[in-house]
Amino acid sequence: MNELHQLQCTGCRRLIAPEKLLGDFRCEQCGELFEVVYPGWGGPQQTRPNASALRWLWKERRSSLEAGDASGVWRFREALPVLESDASIVSLREGNTPLYDLPHSAERLRVTRLQAKHQGMNPTGSFKDTGMTAAISVARDRGAAWVACASTGNTSASMAAYAARAGIRSLVLLPEGKIAWGKLSQSLDYGALTLQLRTDFDGCIQVLTEVVRRAPVYLLNSVNPYRVEGQKTAAIELTEQLGWRPPDHLIVPGGNLANSSALGKGFLEMKELGLTSRVPRISVVQAQGANPLVRSMREFGGERLEPIRADTRASAIRIGNPASWRKAVRVIQATGGCVAEVSEAEIALAKAEIGQEGIGCEPASAVTLAGAKKLLAEGRIAPEESVVLLLTGHTLKDANYTIDYHLGELLTAGEVEPLRADVQATRRPPVEVASSADAVLRAMERTSP
Ligand code: F0G
Repeated sequence: MNELHQLQCTGCRRLIAPEKLLGDFRCEQCGELFEVVYPGWGGPQQTRPNASALRWLWKERRSSLEAGDASGVWRFREALPVLESDASIVSLREGNTPLYDLPHSAERLRVTRLQAKHQGMNPTGSFKDTGMTAAISVARDRGAAWVACASTGNTSASMAAYAARAGIRSLVLLPEGKIAWGKLSQSLDYGALTLQLRTDFDGCIQVLTEVVRRAPVYLLNSVNPYRVEGQKTAAIELTEQLGWRPPDHLIVPGGNLANSSALGKGFLEMKELGLTSRVPRISVVQAQGANPLVRSMREFGGERLEPIRADTRASAIRIGNPASWRKAVRVIQATGGCVAEVSEAEIALAKAEIGQEGIGCEPASAVTLAGAKKLLAEGRIAPEESVVLLLTGHTLKDANYTIDYHLGELLTAGEVEPLRADVQATRRPPVEVASSADAVLRAMERTSP
């Protein structure tokens, strides 16, 4: 097997050979998660990739026609040397996502620079694709016949697509009735065996943990350290888009807490390799009803996490027992970030505001803008700082949520009350009119500018 990388337990720090890690991916000795490490990077200059050469190489590849180069993950493959050969790459041209200015929100929030890195513009409509290309490529390398995940909908959509491309069978466990239709339809479309369990996401994880112990199935939840390796490339791509100057602050939604960990790993490694001279502060935002990390930081300083029964309409992040919470705490502490929680109305309003920028995102992504407002109001972000919101999913993932918001059927009166004026100003319900030009023109006149 490839000697460029090893796996290290994030708890007891022991190192193991990559092919030894199977099952539910937890350390047999201490129960913690593993991460990929690259022994050569800490060594003498000769074994460490050269930062300016990498910057040049990665830029050159932007004009290459090779499949691996066209991928916004594998273009940076020196930062994730986990494959024996590039021939194992399973790619759908993931990554290469836009970094948008958010001028209206920046003006409203009175910040100098507010941007959104839209990972929802990936092939299956979420950030999961960047991790999935890496983990499925490794699964194929190892000859996996089955791959599996439990999901709130996006991981399953992504896994089903990449497994189909790789010719591997895929098993999806979903909490019945608790994921958005668009995501369920994707998993069916890409041919996964899709099982709906009468439980929540955390219950699905429990069942799957037992399944992977009893059957030769390769687990593709984000406890899989190769998922994290793929997802960290968003940090590299973002920094490249900013001329190798990271933003001051990056705001990320928090669910199972792998993405915040992955981005943190990406930024910390870039600094280690000399690609950048500093890291952004990474802050994690959760929905109020699904806030185990916020509670852990508030009540236990991040030392302990008590699982909760999670509830939020942002179904992607309805998670009460996040697997990667320790990794996320370390990233928040190492980068000087913080946590915030936002209400259902704050999420819905922020989502509408991102829509009005002509961009849109799914509800779970909108917690970032709602969180940015909070952190600014609390003085934890200064107005002159550059802020990037990490948008994780495409607006079409959960069209029902959007329609219900505009029809005024999403939120209860009590939930809307504190934000009534703002919510009303952003609602654009569809209007039924007679089939005539007169009716259309009258409707236009009635519309406020
Ligand atoms: N945003 C979206 C759109 C998601 O789908 C998820 C997670 C998150 C944010 C949170 O990311 O878990 O790394 O903290 N969705 C998972 C899934 C759990 O199964 O699709 P995280």
